[in-house]
Amino acid sequence: MIDLAKKKDENKEYTIEDLPGVGPATAEKLREAGYTDLIELAVVSPKDLADLAGVGEGTAQKIIAAARKYANVGDFETGDVILERRSQLTKLTTGSKEFDTLLGGGLESQAITEFFGEFGSGKTQIVHQLAVNVQLPKEKGGLEGHAIFIDTENTFRPERIVQMAEALEMNPQEVLKNIHVARAFNSHHQMLLVDKAMELAKKYPVKLLIVDSLTAHFRAEYVGRSSLAERQQLLNRHMHDLLKFADINNAIVAVTNQVSAKPDMFYGDPTSPIGGHIVAHNATYRLYIRKSRGNKRIARLIDSPALPDGEVVIAITTEGIRDP
Ligand code: GTP
Ligand code: MG
Repeated sequence: MIDLAKKKDENKEYTIEDLPGVGPATAEKLREAGYTDLIELAVVSPKDLADLAGVGEGTAQKIIAAARKYANVGDFETGDVILERRSQLTKLTTGSKEFDTLLGGGLESQAITEFFGEFGSGKTQIVHQLAVNVQLPKEKGGLEGHAIFIDTENTFRPERIVQMAEALEMNPQEVLKNIHVARAFNSHHQMLLVDKAMELAKKYPVKLLIVDSLTAHFRAEYVGRSSLAERQQLLNRHMHDLLKFADINNAIVAVTNQVSAKPDMFYGDPTSPIGGHIVAHNATYRLYIRKSRGNKRIARLIDSPALPDGEVVIAITTEGIRDP
């Protein structure tokens, strides 16, 4: 633990455990509430911290004050540095030429792409396809990278990966070895897995992070008006972590989100995707997937800042996602 009166060592990375007044139990509570960096603690309000981490408001105030002192607050970047980072942007093929065109060449790195739609619309199929495609050579629209699959609904199917890999004449065993799957048992676990993913990305060339589904646990756990604010706050933090992952690793983040045909009590608008404006605001690209005849699906790009809105028809075949 550090002595608050002591001067900050500019070269040291202080952790939550270093803060005065934060013992192992409190540190655990903070981490469970999703606070892993001092910078996150430095910018939270005392009331939110008290509510989310289950500590007294006085303690929360002290923790925040200490975090402000010891956090390495981000520096400003000059435009050329940002340009350099953006020049590394890469694109990943969906498996459908039309779909890629709609997306300006495929899914973009350093961004979050959200697929939303009702049950059976093909969201899980699409992300399986991406986990295979990311391993393709660059000339075939891949990134020669690994995938991480955060599975919240137990829908990852290795057998389906094998089918898709074989269709692309890839070695299915190799393809499976490059997909790192973790089941997330609840929303907190889901958030912690992003930290784990960050560690994994130091070991392997991870170019794709999938969260299927982004919102299901949050929706199931935070029921009713009174918990809406908390849920939205956690989802917001989760998406910030995902975007950080995308930026740091120059990776693609693909998330799924269900829209329910039934009226969703907590949002008013029955057709709006779960997570409301928080998810909408944090996703860089949003695709609305809906069922059409047979194996056809319609993918619509919504509110993209850089690309024209539009829609295309794709097919879910035995081989995977294809042009119809
Ligand atoms: P929820 O998770 O329930 O919200 O649905 P989702 O949007 O994830 O749907 P999913 O991706 O699971 O799509 C299911 C549909 O994909 C099925 O109804 C089938 O039409 C199709 N599908 C799934 N597996 C296969 C397969 O092995 N071969 C073919 N040809 N189609 C499949
Ligand atoms: Mg699904």
